[in-house]
Amino acid sequence: MDNNRRPDNMTRITTPELAQAFIDEQVKLLREQIGSDKVLLALSGGVDSSVVAALLIKAVGNQLVAVHVNHGLLRKGEPEQVQKVFRDEMKANLIYVDAVDRFLDKLAGVTDPEQKRMIIGGEFIEVFAEEARKLDGVKFLAQGTIWPDILESEKGIKAHHNAGGLPEDLSFELVEPVKILFKDEVRAVGSALGLPDGMVYRQPFPGPGLGVRCPGAITRDRLEAVRESDAIVREEFAKNGLAGKVWQYFTVVPDFKSTGIKNGERCFEWPVIVRAVNTRDAMTATVENIPFELMQHITDRIVNEVKGVNRVLYDFTPKPTATIEYE
Ligand code: XMP
Repeated sequence: MDNNRRPDNMTRITTPELAQAFIDEQVKLLREQIGSDKVLLALSGGVDSSVVAALLIKAVGNQLVAVHVNHGLLRKGEPEQVQKVFRDEMKANLIYVDAVDRFLDKLAGVTDPEQKRMIIGGEFIEVFAEEARKLDGVKFLAQGTIWPDILESEKGIKAHHNAGGLPEDLSFELVEPVKILFKDEVRAVGSALGLPDGMVYRQPFPGPGLGVRCPGAITRDRLEAVRESDAIVREEFAKNGLAGKVWQYFTVVPDFKSTGIKNGERCFEWPVIVRAVNTRDAMTATVENIPFELMQHITDRIVNEVKGVNRVLYDFTPKPTATIEYE
């Protein structure tokens, strides 16, 4: 198989057997390409990088050095899950970098959404480059590029998120074992590799993470309210059979407060906005009809369990006119 382009007649990987055949072939190709050298991977915990990590662990074991950067904008439990799955269970050579203070300090007081994105992206590359420089003898850089990324970059829709961005003194040969796969195939391969469903079937999550759901200048307390309310919504959607039905669902905590009552006393706290949308390609999106009783239950939990919150709102706006995220 030409490992660079998806063959026109390639069978869609829809079964565990087809996934296993792909894995066997890739393991062979990866061993040929990498030999006895080391390969570096930025492991976010997203579907694509997780599947690439699992493939590489199978192919070259501890020659893989996976770096997980916690930028403080991950969802509740994510850094822990990455460490549990890859370090404890798969015995990977995983470097965990706690860069929370570094990112949040840089972001303090920054209100412009694009500037926030640039800081998060730029700082990520810097942290990753620092880790890479500490290592000796790394020849390869693995990436979770998938087939739609290549098609989109060919059509000029978006820049292919590849090694471009790393400083010039760090030049690696690329390893991109899932680059001929569509997303659903990456998931099938991930399942066949034994990754947990929560990782393989997770909803899309933006690179700047919870940072775009904490509009305006990010503060630690408001970010915590985003993280905790998001965890409640995810838990309730999973419990009530909505997790697999709704494409993307999350919370946003805007930077204003309103009056309320808690324990018989006036309080002045943030609202949490719940958003739940369905879409095919994220270019347009419709709003999900969430059962009223479930929204009442979610509201009850959020105002009682999340610090600093006294209201819950539901966003009824499709895309357009709204975008899916708030920044
Ligand atoms: P919007 O808000 O543009 O979002 O309707 C469409 C889809 O893209 C995701 N998104 C991002 N993903 N970096 C990413 O990796 C970003 O800066 C970013 N902004 C939005 C969003 O979550 C939705 O799935």
